[in-house]
Amino acid sequence: MLLRNAWYIAAWADELGSAPLARRICNEPVVLFRGKDGRAAALTDRCCHRAAPLHLGTLIEGRIQCGYHGLVFDGSGRCVAIPGQSRIPEDARVRSYPIIEKNQLVWLWMGEAEKADPSLIVDFPYHDDKAKWPNKHDMYPIRGNYMLMVDNLMDLTHLGYLHAKTVGGNPAQHVTAEMKTTRTPTGLKFTRWMKNSVPPPSYVKAAGFAGRVDRCQEFEFVAPSTVLQWTGAIDAGAPYSDP
Ligand code: FES
Ligand SMILES: [Fe+2]
Repeated sequence: MLLRNAWYIAAWADELGSAPLARRICNEPVVLFRGKDGRAAALTDRCCHRAAPLHLGTLIEGRIQCGYHGLVFDGSGRCVAIPGQSRIPEDARVRSYPIIEKNQLVWLWMGEAEKADPSLIVDFPYHDDKAKWPNKHDMYPIRGNYMLMVDNLMDLTHLGYLHAKTVGGNPAQHVTAEMKTTRTPTGLKFTRWMKNSVPPPSYVKAAGFAGRVDRCQEFEFVAPSTVLQWTGAIDAGAPYSDP
């Protein structure tokens, strides 16, 4: 089942450039582009004339021109030009989606537009503060149900086995981790502490730990498709404060 009345990340903001971008969100083909004013727009990727995929067309001054017979659509999905005729029918339009660009991400609302509440969008302020939070980003397509990815991230018992040589380390310390799970209004959050444990290879490489550590993982699932991850370690027994 797909939740339609929800915000979904459709792209990184810097993916919207001079060419239309095709994505499939909630099994719907969507084309993304920027209007003349630079604002992001998202339309059904299907021309209302003869159903050609709009992403195969061209961007002309912030509008998208279908590559089949040349109809032109603006960011609201309205047809604004039809080659060879001056009359544009009222219903010559394609569906547009509520779209918000925030913290370097482009979010789409796939359901009823009047229910699209921007305050429901998950905050990622770290993306905007590269000095304090150095970051880079990418896209990683996975051929599988998105819920399997949520399952994977919310069940870290696999770390000691699957990631033994990197972020995993010794499987035994994952089994005995102190685990606290909390329901949230929109999902679930857990905190895992692996106190006085041997740091896994990636942690040693990144921070140069010489001995045992107190290690923490804090993960939060925000329905339907966001998982926030925090992880870190300190020398075992050292005082800890949240950065
Ligand atoms: S199919 Fe798009 S203009 Fe004809
Ligand atoms: Fe993993």
